[in-house]
Amino acid sequence: MIIAVDGPAAAGKGTLARGLAQRFELAYLDTGSLYRTVAARLIHLGHNYNNEEAANVASSLCQIDTNDPILRDEQTGVVASKIATFPKVREALRDYQRNFAFNPPNGALGSVLDGRDIGTTVCPDADVKFFVTASLEIRAERRAREIAANGQPENLKIVRAKLEERDARDMLRATAPLRPAPDAHLLDTTNLDIETALTEAESLILARMSRPNWP
Ligand code: DC
Repeated sequence: MIIAVDGPAAAGKGTLARGLAQRFELAYLDTGSLYRTVAARLIHLGHNYNNEEAANVASSLCQIDTNDPILRDEQTGVVASKIATFPKVREALRDYQRNFAFNPPNGALGSVLDGRDIGTTVCPDADVKFFVTASLEIRAERRAREIAANGQPENLKIVRAKLEERDARDMLRATAPLRPAPDAHLLDTTNLDIETALTEAESLILARMSRPNWP
């Protein structure tokens, strides 16, 4: 059982994907943290990163520490979004993600992956797909609150502008751009709290599981 959760930054896809993984006892992979790990390593090495260099780092990725605070740095996110436009980086990370999806760790019976291209490219045959979105204003407010909670408040307008820039890079890149898969369920969290979104997603999965061709 593979569940794909895609969407732009700060739409709530991570919280939703984690909640679904817990509810259905599935392994969870935040695929953004793979791109962030590659970015953090390139920054650490002080490289003037290019396609080849970034691809080398991406293809040597083994263990990742998704809790490493450096992954949440603003600069790491920006570099992650830039190296995510390199086809060779995407190819290397696609293999990592597929391996996780088809061989979930710790004996789990399936997996939930969240990212930008899970339903379209990484797992186009996923059993259930969600595309989580929210207005730019709401996403900016959420991100600004998150940043403030981490002790470095930032002006809302700046947060909004950065999100807009990241959205554009993620949606306009040539390889595997951010877009909903045609068979994805759209979940707009602009006026929906996470509990309600989770309940809605759970019902859609249960409905899918009750149909005869469930894996
Ligand atoms: O979800 P995030 O903000 O942690 O992701 C950081 C960047 O990584 C994002 O701007 C684009 C890239 N990314 C991607 O291209 N494809 C994915 N499946 C996940 C993330």
